[in-house]
Amino acid sequence: MDEPLISASLVFRDDGTPYSPRHDDIYHSAAGALAQARHVFLDGNGLPARWREKPRFTVIETGFGMGINFLSTWAAWRDDPQRPPALEFVSIEKHPFSADDLRSAHAAIIDDIAIAPLSDALASAWPKLEAGVHKLALATGAVTLTLAFGDAGDLLPRLAEHGLTADAIYLDGFAPARNPDMWTPAIFASLARIAKDDATFATYTSAGHVKRALIDNGFAYRKVAGFGGKRAMLVGKRALSVGH
Ligand SMILES: C[S@@+](CC[C@H](N)C(=O)[O-])C[C@H]1O[C@@H](n2cnc3c(N)ncnc32)[C@H](O)[C@@H]1O
Repeated sequence: MDEPLISASLVFRDDGTPYSPRHDDIYHSAAGALAQARHVFLDGNGLPARWREKPRFTVIETGFGMGINFLSTWAAWRDDPQRPPALEFVSIEKHPFSADDLRSAHAAIIDDIAIAPLSDALASAWPKLEAGVHKLALATGAVTLTLAFGDAGDLLPRLAEHGLTADAIYLDGFAPARNPDMWTPAIFASLARIAKDDATFATYTSAGHVKRALIDNGFAYRKVAGFGGKRAMLVGKRALSVGH
């Protein structure tokens, strides 16, 4: 049985950055949530270029939060004349916001009016806050958002067992030092099972144990310039087949 969910509460720091009292960490850089999503997760995974010529492109994300990475990815897909016919985004979230808090958060932090209709569509389709997997069909079915509500340590192995495969991995689970549960060896092992042979990943962290976990699970990483004053972040790709 899935445990009952504990939802997130919407709190802002004095500088307007959304903050999690539970994890004592911020959801996005104070330098801008959308700009961070584009720099770290889209550019970090070579998007939009990498999804061109594919019939379907799948992203797996650890930590849906306010869905800023999802909205940025959806907007980039919408605006790309060479987009794949289908975009699938799968994201895991232990403490989801309510639909109302999602709307308030987006109104406060999204500074690009071209994203407002996507935010509205997401909040309107938002599921009940119940543990388990919720599939949302957006953009008349061309965009699928699969929200897995629960702990990533439980849900990622289940998604891997059900045969999920992904082209890109967004690692976004708060700082490893503040939230080690999102950066365990078991999570990296599941991601290695889910990653397609040409899969890429990106994360804003460059913590030593994350680098080691990536290597141990068959990923090769590069350190590149981080976002918003952060010196470094990690990007990379699947380097070896592990366990095949
Ligand atoms: C930095 S935020 C994600 C920001 C998000 N990607 C966005 O675009 O708005 C990290 C998220 O990880 C979630 N989280 C923390 N620990 C988790 C766990 N063990 N399993 C699943 N989600 C977790 C938090 O609730 C939080 O929403």
